[in-house]
Amino acid sequence: MKRIVILFSGTGSNLENIIQKLHKKTLLVVKAITNNPHAKGIGRAKKYGIDVEVIDHKLFGTREVFDQKLVEVIEEVDPDLVVLAGFMRILTPVFTNRIKNAINIHPSLLPLFKGAKAIEQSYHSDMKVAGVTVHWVSEELDSGDIIDQACFHRENESFEEFEEKIHALEHELYPKVIEKVLKEKSHQKV
Ligand code: GRF
Repeated sequence: MKRIVILFSGTGSNLENIIQKLHKKTLLVVKAITNNPHAKGIGRAKKYGIDVEVIDHKLFGTREVFDQKLVEVIEEVDPDLVVLAGFMRILTPVFTNRIKNAINIHPSLLPLFKGAKAIEQSYHSDMKVAGVTVHWVSEELDSGDIIDQACFHRENESFEEFEEKIHALEHELYPKVIEKVLKEKSHQKV
């Protein structure tokens, strides 16, 4: 079975969704890594017996030193794919030059609404559709090649309803894309 590492920072709903749908079925989640010692996702991953490693970014002087540690931990387990699921750290070339097989999910139809306020910006825009994007991780934030997207037509939802629809789409799309990428990239290694 192919082996993945998941990076997360907070709630971990995508993390748990991936574990529930794919772990020990079509792939193995060999490690989950978080930069946040208080992330709710830690408990969610441990429930399934996943090895969780906390690399607290506050203990590292610069983004580069943090990224170096992250790279070392990832390379130790040598996964087929690194999956960013709500990992809220800007990555430097220390990471992107070494880890080539990494994907991210972003809660907007990229290239629109990059950055941390994507759901809010997309909600307050006058667009008639909204959606989510899975893309390769590159040096520039939320700008790597797009792998797949999913969207819905807006229906005057409240912000909470809108956010719920975005997360539901993420949970539907991400596992499918992970499986697809692992099939297509079967020859590549991180
Ligand atoms: C998701 O909306 C993801 O697209 C964004 O951060 C959120 C993480 O949510 N990058 P969760 O931690 O997976 O619940």
